[in-house]
Amino acid sequence: MYYPQEIVDQVLAANDIVDVVGQYVSLKKSGANHFGLCPFHSEKSPSFSVSQSKQIFHCFGCGEGGNAVTFLMKYENATFQEALKSLADRAGIRLPEENYSEQARERAKEREELLKINKEAATYYYKMLRSPKGKAGLAYFEERQLSQQTMNAFGLGYADGSRSDLVAHLRKLGFADDLILASGVAAYDEKRGLHDKFFNRVMYPIMDASNKVIGFGGRVLGEGRPKYLNSPETPVFDKGRNLYGLNIARRSRADHFILCEGYMDVIAMHQAGFTQAIASLGTAFTDNQAQIIRRYVKNVLLAYDSDGAGVTAALRNIGILRRAGLTGKVVDMRPYKDPDEFMKALGREEFQKRLDNAENSFFYEIRQMEGSYDLKDPASRTQFYHEIARKLCIFTDEIERENYIRAMAEKYYIPQESLRKEVAGYVMIGEGEDTGTARPPQARGAQEQQNSMPSGGMPDPSDFQAERAVYSRPVSLSGERRLGAAHEARLRNQRLLMTWLSDDPALYPQIRGIINAEDFDEGLYREAAGRYFEMLEQYFVDPLHMASGAAPIGTISPASVISIFDTDAEQTEAAALFETRIEGVHDIKERTAALKDVLLGIKKATLDRVMKDPETAGKLDEILKLKKILATIPGMNLKLSE
Ligand code: GTP
Ligand code: MN
Repeated sequence: MYYPQEIVDQVLAANDIVDVVGQYVSLKKSGANHFGLCPFHSEKSPSFSVSQSKQIFHCFGCGEGGNAVTFLMKYENATFQEALKSLADRAGIRLPEENYSEQARERAKEREELLKINKEAATYYYKMLRSPKGKAGLAYFEERQLSQQTMNAFGLGYADGSRSDLVAHLRKLGFADDLILASGVAAYDEKRGLHDKFFNRVMYPIMDASNKVIGFGGRVLGEGRPKYLNSPETPVFDKGRNLYGLNIARRSRADHFILCEGYMDVIAMHQAGFTQAIASLGTAFTDNQAQIIRRYVKNVLLAYDSDGAGVTAALRNIGILRRAGLTGKVVDMRPYKDPDEFMKALGREEFQKRLDNAENSFFYEIRQMEGSYDLKDPASRTQFYHEIARKLCIFTDEIERENYIRAMAEKYYIPQESLRKEVAGYVMIGEGEDTGTARPPQARGAQEQQNSMPSGGMPDPSDFQAERAVYSRPVSLSGERRLGAAHEARLRNQRLLMTWLSDDPALYPQIRGIINAEDFDEGLYREAAGRYFEMLEQYFVDPLHMASGAAPIGTISPASVISIFDTDAEQTEAAALFETRIEGVHDIKERTAALKDVLLGIKKATLDRVMKDPETAGKLDEILKLKKILATIPGMNLKLSE
C-alpha cells in the first residue's frame, strides 16, 4: 500500500513526537529539546534528543535519528505501513484503504509499462546477438574472450544497423509511442520520427537488484565515439541508485564487494569467479550507492583503473565509503590498466593475490598525499606530519584511532607521543569529522574552503563527459589532498545552516536571495534543503498562505522533510541535518558572526564549484553574481531571535 506524502504529513502533524517517544523513553526537558537515554545504543548520560518544534529525534551519541514514524519503525522493528497505521490510530485518523492517489496510481502504472518495454527490448537484443544478424556482435564478445555462459548470465545482446526495427517490434507488441520514447530505448526527431536509440552496438542490459532490466549500455564495436551510449535516466532508471552486477553480486558469498569502473571489468571478474564485482553506471559513485552496498556487505575493495583518473576517483570514493560506514581497501592493478586487462594477462590466482594484498584505504590516502611533500626537507616533512595528524581525526572510535596513530608513527618514524598529542589537540577543537560536535564556526571551515576546494569539484554525476573532463586533469595532489576535510567542512556548514533555520525560521526571509537549494551538495542534502526551503517560501512569501493564518509548526516541518526519504539510513542522515550541535557560540553577537561565517563558507563553496564546472554557458554572470553576494554577507544586518 502506497501512502501519498499528504497523508504521511497529516499523520505526523497529528502526533506529537515528544508524546510518542515519551511512551518508551523517559524524557526530560533541557533547553529547547527533551533529552533521555538513547534506546538504540547503551549509554550512561543522555544524548538522545527529541525536538518538539521540529518533530524529530536525533541521538548525538550514535547518530540515529528521524521523525515519529522512523522512531516506531526502529523501536518496534515495524514496517513503514505498520508504524504509520499505529500513529494514525493513535490520532484517530482513518488511513485511506486502497486509496492510491490518482497520480500515484498512474506513476506506478507507467513504471510497470517502462519495465515491460525494457524487458522486451532486452529480449530483442539478446535474440539478435544469437541470430545471423548478430554475427559481428558475437565476434566482438568472443574476441574479448567472453564465454557463452558469461554472455547469458549478463543477458548481453546486440543492436544491428537497423534504425527502427526495435520501435516497430515494440509497436507491434502494443506499446504506445509516448511510452516507448519514455523508456529511453528510442529517440525522437522531426526528420526521422520515433527511431531506435541503439544501433551497431553490443548491448549490456542494466538490471536492478531484483533482476529487472532498467536500462542499457551500448558499446561500439572497436573504436568510435561515444564508446558507450547509455539509456537516459527514466522513472525506472536512476543511475545514482543502481549498480551494475549487483543482481548477481548480492548472492555471492563474499564478505565484500569489488567496486570497479567499467561494465567490462565487472564481466571479466565474474567470468573468473569473482562474482562479488560491481560498478557504478558510467557516472560518479554516489552516497546512495554506498548506502545500498551497506545492505549487503561492510567491506569494499576498490579496483579502479591504475591511471590518474582512477586514482582521483579512488580517493574521492574512499571518503564516500567511509561516510557510509564501510571499510575500503584499494587494489593495485599496476602495471595493467584495469581488472579486465589484468585478468587476461595474469589470471585469477594473481588477481586473488592482489585482492588479498589490497591496501587499507587510509594508508592509500596518506601514501598518495606523501607524493606532494619532500620528506628530505624538514619544513615540508613537518607539514606532512601535521597533515597526517589532522587526517587521523576522521577516526571517531578511540581504539581505531589509536591503532592508526601507532601504524602511522611506525611507518613514518614520527614519535608516537607527539602524534597522539597533536591528534588529541585537533579532536579537542572539533577538528574530528562527523562526531556530531561542530567545530567552533570561526575555526577553519570557511578558510579551508577558500583555499583548497577539491579540484574534483562535484560534477553532475549524470553527466559523464563533465566528470571525465574533471577527472582526467593532471592529478594535483596538493590541491587534492584536503578533499576529505574540505568536503566535510562544506557539509558541516550546510548542516549548521539547516539547523539554524529550523531553530529560527524567521531567519529565512533575511537570507532569502542569498542561499538556495543549489548551494547544497547534490543528493540528500540538496533534496532536503529544497523541500524545506519550499515550505519556508510558502509560509513566508506566499501571501495566500500568510492570510490563511496557518501555524508555522507542521507547515514548516523538518519531520515532513524526513519522510520524503525511503531508507532508514537516509532518514537518519536527514535528521542530522536539522540537529547539528553548535558549541562555543553563546551570545547573539557570536551567533550572528558564526552564521555569517557559515553563509560565507557555503557561498564560497558554490563559487568554487561553478568556477570549476567545465560547462561554460552563463558561467561568467553566475560568478559575478556569487561574488556580489559574497561581498554583501559581512555587512548584512541579521536579526536572530533569542
Ligand atoms: P571497455 O573499453 O570495453 O573495456 O569498457 P570498460 O567497461 O572497461 O569502460 P571504461 O573503463 O573505458 O569506462 C568505464 C565506464 O565508464 C564504462 O563501463 C561506462 O559505464 C562508462 N563510459 C565509458 N566511456 C563512456 C562514454 O563514452 N559515454 C558514457 N556515457 N559512458 C562511458
Ligand atoms: Mn576496459
